[in-house]
Amino acid sequence: MKRVEVVDQIHDYTFPCQVPDYFGVDLEDRVSRNENTPKEKFHTIDILTTHMVIAARLLLPAGGRVVAKRFDLVQFGDYDYKKLIREIELSRLIKHRHIARYYQCFWEENSERRPIYFYIIRERLDFSLDKYYAHISKDDGSSGERKRDHRLLSALFVQILKALQFLQEHDIIHRDISPKNIGVNQNGFLIKLIDFGCSRKQSPSLEHTLQPGADYLYQAPEMLAGKPYDTKVDIWSTAVVGIEMLGCKVLTPTGWSPHTIKADMLKRILKVCGWQKSDQYEQVYDNVFHDELGLRKPMLPQFEKEIPTKRLEPDRGPLTKDHFLDLVKIMLSVDPRKRPNAEKCLMEAKYLQVMNRKYDEVHNVPSPRESFLELIKRLRDEPPTNLQNDEEKEARS
Ligand SMILES: Nc1ncnc2c1ncn2[C@@H]1O[C@H](COP(=O)(O)OP(=O)(O)OP(=O)(O)O)[C@@H](O)[C@H]1O
Ligand SMILES: [Mg+2]
Repeated sequence: MKRVEVVDQIHDYTFPCQVPDYFGVDLEDRVSRNENTPKEKFHTIDILTTHMVIAARLLLPAGGRVVAKRFDLVQFGDYDYKKLIREIELSRLIKHRHIARYYQCFWEENSERRPIYFYIIRERLDFSLDKYYAHISKDDGSSGERKRDHRLLSALFVQILKALQFLQEHDIIHRDISPKNIGVNQNGFLIKLIDFGCSRKQSPSLEHTLQPGADYLYQAPEMLAGKPYDTKVDIWSTAVVGIEMLGCKVLTPTGWSPHTIKADMLKRILKVCGWQKSDQYEQVYDNVFHDELGLRKPMLPQFEKEIPTKRLEPDRGPLTKDHFLDLVKIMLSVDPRKRPNAEKCLMEAKYLQVMNRKYDEVHNVPSPRESFLELIKRLRDEPPTNLQNDEEKEARS
């Protein structure tokens, strides 16, 4: 390990830090490094209450760009420790093409050998999606005329859904899918999830607590209403993230206050997604909509009116405005039982079909039919089970 200096680029001050010998300053980071940061000093990407994110490059033959997420354990309460344990354990477990690679963790100790700073090292991407969205809107120029490319939008959905499909197969709920927690490399438009601070294994009872750290604006209604929830909450958030690419935070209520945000969010959600009859949702929401939100009259869905699809380029083959709307409408099903999981979205949504097929071809993913034929081949080679013998053996024992 070596002692280095890091510049907090937000508050403009320098502090000492301990990093592995093979960490170097990333002078080529044009996205987050300030021009006037001294050459020999490392730089931060973000500063939060209990931790900060530092950029570095690896001085190893293969090279590579990393972030060091540095947790200040002195600031930690019990809940922070619980979150950190989950983040470390899940990060060590999860390996996927669309999840930023976890490399290692280490810590600094004080003179009494108590850990004071804890570091998680991960692969770094060019931007988080919030910064990328800001970057593409800047490119729009004053006219605001530049349209969003259907292919990028479809590729965004496919890549996030591939990561979610993997997580869902392992019963992991991400719980904080938001533009801040999704990374993008501009070259090739590669998308990866970058933060697992709020994730957990799904409990069989589905009784999970709320996530105080997660961004309400992306939370599914069952989570906002404090009801049991499962991995489908991530599908909801993905739709909100995708719509935001059109430069619109569609489910953000106007004039909300921090004290009433959850109720304001639920009302806004029902305004956009529609609400026909309370009994339609009773099994999931009890009487939340009727009694607690005071909603009486049915409301028609307003997707077409609220989502600025005029921001999309003209239709291109199956990449049409209508297919885009069909996809987000189903992902934003207020009833989670009607909301498809990631695999179903990928297989059935017309908006994703071309991109998904292309993706599977490039990455040699066998189609369901090919997988089935492969299974038949294996079954054919297996010796047949002799049921009669088995029954006789069981009767004897
Ligand atoms: N692997 C990465 N590649 C690029 N940027 C990253 C990476 N990890 C973190 N960042 C940047 O640092 C920010 C904060 O990191 P992270 O999401 O891990 O912490 P957090 O506590 O969850 O913060 P937030 O509440 O903003 O999500 C991200 O929003 C992103 O801008
Ligand atoms: Mg985050």
